[in-house]
Amino acid sequence: MQTKKITFTVNGREVTLEVDIRESLLETLRNRLQLIGTKKGCGVGECGACTVLIDGETIDTCIYLAVWADGKEIRTIEGEAVDGKLSKAQQAMLDEGAVQCGFCTPGFVMSITSMVESGKQYTREEIKKEISGNMCRCTGYQNIVNAAERALK
Ligand code: FES
Ligand code: FES
Repeated sequence: MQTKKITFTVNGREVTLEVDIRESLLETLRNRLQLIGTKKGCGVGECGACTVLIDGETIDTCIYLAVWADGKEIRTIEGEAVDGKLSKAQQAMLDEGAVQCGFCTPGFVMSITSMVESGKQYTREEIKKEISGNMCRCTGYQNIVNAAERALK
């Protein structure tokens, strides 16, 4: 097994690890750092359950190698609530009744957070496009799009 030492920050904490060069960042986050809020759904970059922010961009960590995270800044769902106060996206998801399972929700929150922090305005159609990489198997999309609109207000 070939390994490489990498350093990145996750939710503001610097981490240095020796990783298998074939290891996905999702495996590193869940199995080695116990950040299990980031979920594994499809494992092939289709469902968005594994979405985190890397240097502010939404990334599917199941198809992102841990070694690529060297020197990067990562944010996961665990870092979103600060001192017990939910982030804008989290609060909006709650307010709009957009949370049904714990599986897809972290990914949706990270995608909505990315939109909120972009400072841009989005139409409802643009929101749908932006979150099209996140799937909700119970098709709760109306409320999720409502939540994104609320978070972006
Ligand atoms: S688990 Fe990564 S996109 Fe589905
Ligand atoms: S709320 Fe998670 S799959 Fe629908």
